Amino acid sequence: MKSLSLIMMVGIVGLGLPAAAAERAEVIHWWTSGSESAAVRVLADAFNNAGGDWIDNAVAGGGGANARSLGINRIVGGNPPTVMQFNYGRQLDEIIEHGYVRDISDLAAQGNWNELVPDALMDSITVDGKVYGIPVNMHGQTWSWWSLPALEKAGVEVPASWDAFFPTLDKLKAAGIIPVAVSRDAWTIDSIWRFIVISKGGTDLFRKIYVDHDVSSVNSPEFRELVETLIRLRDYSDPGASARNWNDSTALIINDTAGVQFMGDWAKGEFLNAGEVPMQDFACTPVIGGNQGYVYGGDMFVVTASEDPEQLSAQNLFVETLMSKQVQIDFNRVKGSIPVRSDVDTAQLDACAQIAIDLVKNPDNQVGDQPFYNSSDTIGAIRDLLGALWSDPNPSVDTFTQNFAQIIAAE
Ligand code: BGC
Repeated sequence: MKSLSLIMMVGIVGLGLPAAAAERAEVIHWWTSGSESAAVRVLADAFNNAGGDWIDNAVAGGGGANARSLGINRIVGGNPPTVMQFNYGRQLDEIIEHGYVRDISDLAAQGNWNELVPDALMDSITVDGKVYGIPVNMHGQTWSWWSLPALEKAGVEVPASWDAFFPTLDKLKAAGIIPVAVSRDAWTIDSIWRFIVISKGGTDLFRKIYVDHDVSSVNSPEFRELVETLIRLRDYSDPGASARNWNDSTALIINDTAGVQFMGDWAKGEFLNAGEVPMQDFACTPVIGGNQGYVYGGDMFVVTASEDPEQLSAQNLFVETLMSKQVQIDFNRVKGSIPVRSDVDTAQLDACAQIAIDLVKNPDNQVGDQPFYNSSDTIGAIRDLLGALWSDPNPSVDTFTQNFAQIIAAE
């Protein structure tokens, strides 16, 4: 080995090339589906082309719980990756508190992020006036994705109201189509649930529950109706759900075996990756009967605290690359999300992205997703509750409601 590296060094010196070491960055993330991997490639290629050396550490598990716990354990154990993915919100409160995350306020100021990035996202990556996250995208967390050929086969259209919703699912069922593509993980049941909350309950009720933690809203007849809707929806799934990841469910919409999936717009990445065209092969609606509600969320990377000049330099390159205008547009086009920079040309993005872009212009239409206002423990407890309700043959709305109220009251 020694003689080989000596030969290489002699070779480099002999050619008169600079022997600059690439800026090496180990990146922990949870993007492993087809479109997610393609989106990571966009980031990695851009970083490597800028002189970096992207060491990919993809941790399977949609929603990222596995990646986050592995990354946090490494950080706390003294073996941090160079950078690591989180969702916007409170997931990294504790590691910031303990000094494990690098303050990148200087880079944010140089990049003029305050002017370019939406306030809600800047707030989320800023703690005590210091910036700790690189905002890469804005995802819509609670969309519905409909197979247009499946609807056509059943002789129906995307339901224009909640009155038309279950009759549409009945028609899909009668046509031999799985009405709702459901996946196995509790976070995906939570996606269905929050779709119902924003779509049927509205933005205000969503805010009262998740932002204000208002127990009386949970004890209201409106909340009860949301729970009943979720329970009723179970009858439109199929036994295969227990073996499915979120992207396997998206595949059922892509191949027109199922009618609808309720999922964030990372699902759109899968449709686009399969060559499908919005409003031609599939339809996207953020709520049933219009476009009035939008739960936003998405992804940031954090750079870990380090004293090592090489790591710091690789981190600087990482920040600069991910926030460049070109990467913002190239990455988000593949990922299914929308860019965070207001100075990129979004006209070239697809029809569903245009709905999202319009919606986020109006603060009344939008609300941040759970992690903005709730600890990971609270979200975990709600997911356990939803998972238990979903698998209970005789679920009790009262028990669910009482437990839900207790969880948010404790937040
Ligand atoms: C992330 C998305 C990701 C999805 C599924 C979400 O938490 O924000 O970027 O595609 O999980 O893995």
